[in-house]
Amino acid sequence: MKENVFVPAAEIERQKAIAAELKASGGGRVWIRTFGCQQNEADSEKLLGICGLCGYTPVGEAAQADLVIINTCAIREHAELRALSGAGQLKKLKADRPDLLVAVCGCMVEQEHRRAQLFASYPYVDFLFGTDRLHLLPELLLRAKREKKRFAVTASQPGGDFGVISEGMPVRRTSAYRAWLPVMYGCNNFCTYCVVPFVRGRERSRDTETILREARELIESGCHDITLLGQNVNSYAGDTDFPGLMRKILELPGDFWLRFMTSHPKDASGDLVEAMRESDKAARHFHLPVQSGSDRILARMNRRYTASEYLEKVAYIRERLPDAAITSDVICGFPGETEADFEQTVELVGRAGFDMLYTFVYSPRVGSAAAKMEGQIPHEEKVRRFERLSAFQNERAAAINASYVGKTLRVLSDGEENGIYSGRCSQNKIVTFDRAVAPGSFAQVEITGAQAYALSGVVRE
Ligand code: 5AD
Ligand code: SF4
Repeated sequence: MKENVFVPAAEIERQKAIAAELKASGGGRVWIRTFGCQQNEADSEKLLGICGLCGYTPVGEAAQADLVIINTCAIREHAELRALSGAGQLKKLKADRPDLLVAVCGCMVEQEHRRAQLFASYPYVDFLFGTDRLHLLPELLLRAKREKKRFAVTASQPGGDFGVISEGMPVRRTSAYRAWLPVMYGCNNFCTYCVVPFVRGRERSRDTETILREARELIESGCHDITLLGQNVNSYAGDTDFPGLMRKILELPGDFWLRFMTSHPKDASGDLVEAMRESDKAARHFHLPVQSGSDRILARMNRRYTASEYLEKVAYIRERLPDAAITSDVICGFPGETEADFEQTVELVGRAGFDMLYTFVYSPRVGSAAAKMEGQIPHEEKVRRFERLSAFQNERAAAINASYVGKTLRVLSDGEENGIYSGRCSQNKIVTFDRAVAPGSFAQVEITGAQAYALSGVVRE
């Protein structure tokens, strides 16, 4: 069992006392803009909860806010550039209202070069705080108000370290019926392309009892769809392992689906598949990022499985859980990827038959091993491979989705947007339908049409 390190309860109480002080002095309005993955969305929900303690109420745009927080992602350069441009848009607002507080947090600020850039080129950003420092927000707010001097509080600075878990701060969730539930943080895998181990630190797991309590509260409050989150959920090591945690949550009474993200293919075990088979509350979806179909590239990526081992796992899931959707991620143009390597990826994607594939152009990350490798591929070539794979996958996905026509699926409604009624089924596919169903309610939908990215149908009850 691994040792998990928690922020002492006294420290959380100290932050809560500062929050109460801020609230008593008037609070304000907060707007949070979130980039990146579900973990970041979950972090923003926690930040909103902490802001609530400090007397800040959420608003829908920066112009109405007294406090703006930009929660950033560092997985690819594109994500970083979007976050920087989001910060740039605040320049005029801050010039008009010098009292506006602007904070940048999340994965990007755990990189020294980005902190330096933010301090040098974004003078209207007041403070930076890292992925592991969310619980300090009350103290940081107080400091920013008092000192008027810019500062950064991150784990990757000298003297800082990653690896704590903070419990006991409130979470303000965006949806009443779909919830993110983080179970572990960080990653020990060091895939050579990936920045995550550097910006989120090593693996650590929340206590099983804490997770169970939160799941129970969610279900009792009417949540119908819970996603357990972790950079590598299969490494969960609390009082039980990940399949054990799944079983405990699946045993809770109530009408809900339980999902999880993301599994590393080398760790997704037979026991996990068994735990899912035991309960129809386990949503029929596996997100199993493959990254490449070439053994040579998989080794250079440090993924620790081969293409055939991956395909065996897919075959095993299909045999044991035939109604499960399998989705994946692929990186195009990893350093040294030849045309032949890329063709092996296309072949694997064809053989695996993914319900959905997230295709990415390789983006070198500062500090990662792959950024220093020989054989960096020109951008246009990476994009060409990306486009070829995307077009190939679209045809595959449309054919897979066509096999759903005629079936009746249970769908959790997300209500109406722009005149379209939609929701998601157990396989996590988007399903559009013909009439209003209250958001957060289940409906039986007979599937009458299929596209690459969605199914469409008519409500039967
Ligand atoms: N460049 C491109 N894609 C990346 N991913 C992770 N790091 C990089 C990178 N440096 C992709 C992987 C991962 C997903 C979340 O993002 O496919 O599974
Ligand atoms: Fe990155 Fe690999 Fe960790 Fe996923 S498992 S976050 S790809 S290092």
